[in-house]
Amino acid sequence: METVKTDVLIVGSGPAGASAGLALSTYGVPNIIVTRYSRLADTPRAHITNQRTMEALRDLGVEQEIIAKATPQHLMGNTVFCTSIAGEELGRLRSWGNDPLVQAEHELASPTRMCDMPQHLMEPVLTDAAVARGTELRFSTEYLAHTQDEHGVTVTVKDRLRGDEYQIRAKYLIGADGGRSKVAEHAGLPMGGQMGVAGSINIVFEADLTPYVAHRPSTLYWVLTTGATVGGIGAGLVRCVRPWNEWLIVWGYDVKGAPPDLTDEYALSVVRKLIGDDDLPVTIKSSSAWTVNEMYAESYSKGRVHCAGDATHRHPPSNGLGGNTSIQDSYNLAWKLKLVLDGTASPSLLDTYDAERAPVGKQIVQRANKSIGETGPVFESLDLLTPQDPAQLLANIEARKDATPVAEKRRQALREAIAYKVYEFNAHGVDLNQRYESAAIVPDGTPDPGFDRDPELYHQPTTRPGAKLPHAWITAGRRNLSTLDLGGKGRFTLITGIGGDCWLEAARSVGDELGLELATASIGPGQAYEDPYGDWARLRGIADSGALLLRPDNHVAFRYESAAPDAAELLGAALKRILGRD
Ligand code: FDA
Repeated sequence: METVKTDVLIVGSGPAGASAGLALSTYGVPNIIVTRYSRLADTPRAHITNQRTMEALRDLGVEQEIIAKATPQHLMGNTVFCTSIAGEELGRLRSWGNDPLVQAEHELASPTRMCDMPQHLMEPVLTDAAVARGTELRFSTEYLAHTQDEHGVTVTVKDRLRGDEYQIRAKYLIGADGGRSKVAEHAGLPMGGQMGVAGSINIVFEADLTPYVAHRPSTLYWVLTTGATVGGIGAGLVRCVRPWNEWLIVWGYDVKGAPPDLTDEYALSVVRKLIGDDDLPVTIKSSSAWTVNEMYAESYSKGRVHCAGDATHRHPPSNGLGGNTSIQDSYNLAWKLKLVLDGTASPSLLDTYDAERAPVGKQIVQRANKSIGETGPVFESLDLLTPQDPAQLLANIEARKDATPVAEKRRQALREAIAYKVYEFNAHGVDLNQRYESAAIVPDGTPDPGFDRDPELYHQPTTRPGAKLPHAWITAGRRNLSTLDLGGKGRFTLITGIGGDCWLEAARSVGDELGLELATASIGPGQAYEDPYGDWARLRGIADSGALLLRPDNHVAFRYESAAPDAAELLGAALKRILGRD
């Protein structure tokens, strides 16, 4: 049997696999992606792309291409609740950073903006860049099985064009093969939660909805109509794919039975019901059934096999976290693989992938499922859960307009129920607040600052080791850049300021000693970088002469308050611990 060799074999070309290939190739690690079909994703699926993901993509050099192709943030922002797109509107929620107060928080938190980048547009950007930098992408190649030993993993794949099987020998295997991951199953990753919680159908269609939506631009329109609470994700959903003529409907079915027969006739009947305009020209593009899952891997790795993305966390699209978390998993894993493969770090560094990402996966699975439950009160506020008869449903909705105390209470309950959906549509803290604890983080002895405001809604920056480096706009001559732009690029970076020469010298000597590329940056008046707004001084959590050591993913790994006579020993000990060389 033919055997192909590589350093890292990636199974799957979705957001997790494609971004793993992109990051590894950017860092110069030979890798192959195998993917089952002869194409990339052919439906929009993941779309909300949050700031943490955009920061990773900025570091990997594809941010501008994503921005050029995505629907911009300002068109994402009015989550509408209605009886149908052409029917009565019940209320709106400013979403995805479009509430003016939240918008300011987004601008302060990151150099990049959230956007809506459907998965079928995202995957080609990631894989094109990955292939251009060295990834070998094998379409129509199905993973079948793997065995691992002390030195590597042998994977059996099937060439679906030729019909034969062959083996790929890799030093590491990444299972990015989605929600029905065979790699995770064969590796025996322990899973918590359950699959098949509810039944859902996606219908992709073309229709020019401009007259109904251009005045209230949004990524999501939620439809409260009869049958909308059966299965699915809490209500009927009309989601914009491309403004304003390509759309995706999510509609539920009772998971205890079989999914409906997905004929074009059935799909059209659902589209008509949710759009509410029987004369509108509609072209059905595709329909597919899927299930809402609530499952997460308690461990992401087994020996030389590491899983990422939906292979490890399976949940409904609520909060738009799936594709984001998948890309962020791979961004966390890739630099660790690079340093282990080039001998800079001990294999124990890879244990920190699981320690850092498994808690995030569990959190987002639970958050997404909680969000489904929180749609119920919108229906309850107008007594819409029980009526099966559309006329009765509309009568209940109409009753909220009465000049009676009961109707006034209903109006208030509806406003409150819609406002509470902020936990799904504006959860900035869920997007940004990951603070890691692992052997690749050196505690500095300070207590966890916790969160001053609701940690799900609000981002709270900190430089305490484990957190992502806070963003601040700084300058280099006439160039404006983010503090995040100082780090990344697959290398460690040390940031200091005036009086921190001992740290700069320590970085040089420790970098040489460990054979590690260690970039440095000094911020302050007359330094290579300046802080004209004083934002960095406010956020940095150290004195001018202190030091922050950033990992390649821009998480703070080590922090020291001020200059230190033994800076080289302190920095050396920290890096040895992070790299598993102590
Ligand atoms: P994904 O499933 O995308 O990719 C798996 C890959 O593995 C595919 O390339 C597949 O062909 C390949 N594969 C599988 N088995 C294989 C085998 N045996 N051999 C070789 N290849 C194999 N997320 C988000 O962040 N924001 C959002 O707004 C939404 N919205 C959304 C809406 C809807 C309707 C759905 C259904 C889902 C979302 N999601 C989302 C979730 C998102 O789609 C999902 O989390 C990501 O696609 C997961 O990316 P992965 O790369 O892990 O798996």
